[in-house]
Amino acid sequence: MKGFKGRDIISISDFSKQEILHVLDTAKNFENYRNPSLLKDKMLATLFFEPSTRTRMSFEAAMHFLGGRVIGFSDARLTSISKGESLWDSIRIVEGYSDVIVMRHPFEGSARLAAEAANIPIINGGDGANQHPTQTFLDLFTIYKSKGTIDKLKVGFLGDLKYGRTVHSLARALSLFGAEMYFISPAELRMPSDDIEHLKKEGIVFHEVEDLIGTCPKLDVLYTTRIQKERFPDAADYEKVKGVYRVDNSMLKHVKPELKILHPLPRVDELSPEIDNSPHAVYFEQAANGVPVRAALLALVLGVAE
Ligand code: CP
Repeated sequence: MKGFKGRDIISISDFSKQEILHVLDTAKNFENYRNPSLLKDKMLATLFFEPSTRTRMSFEAAMHFLGGRVIGFSDARLTSISKGESLWDSIRIVEGYSDVIVMRHPFEGSARLAAEAANIPIINGGDGANQHPTQTFLDLFTIYKSKGTIDKLKVGFLGDLKYGRTVHSLARALSLFGAEMYFISPAELRMPSDDIEHLKKEGIVFHEVEDLIGTCPKLDVLYTTRIQKERFPDAADYEKVKGVYRVDNSMLKHVKPELKILHPLPRVDELSPEIDNSPHAVYFEQAANGVPVRAALLALVLGVAE
């Protein structure tokens, strides 16, 4: 296992199964953990070029709970990027003010570019439709806590599998844990070919289907996603698929009693609030798990946890 101190977190594919399990073990130690001296004098910079509630605020909360400080922005129009400064230069500047950077950016590959520019750890808070590795760590943590295992589960991914970066990261991670995967989407929003080729190469059993009701009885976990309107090049294409699936009480009549339903959130209309209090729903716990998981990642890359 590689050490974590000073390490970038760009893609879940950069982590072995053993390393992923180590992050989850470390996160357990950070549940309900408050220590105002652990990251004292450490500075986190949060650079958000796209909107976020959970990722940015759970990183910031984790840093505050551990005694660290935070600088950053969530509206790049108010920074010198709007005067034409490059991403490379911006990262070179911000690394002079901080010990670790979390960045969300609309362009795929931007996090890897930032990591090349910086000499401090870069954590990818989502790069376009590509990857969202810290979400994957918290998704796995949530699956482990709610199912008692992450091995050999039948996992359904529902909705926007083309643009959903959380799906791309989680499918890659679950391929290390022997999952059987069901990709449930309209034809227009199927998984990208590079992810499919990866799964084939790894010998993973998977199914690409459109029928939610026929598939949901088989599942241990259903990972629901929002159709990502903002990533469609043509608004007319979004109109064709919006509202195509809805997880609600009528669907729950067909599922195993132990099914757990996750969603990275935000939701629009694909996940009915009528199921929020059902024992299947774990998406609010999932969002809350962002704090211990991101605290663990900060502590690991800053070298105060091993
Ligand atoms: N799940 C997630 O990434 O949420 P935010 O966009 O609110 O950060």
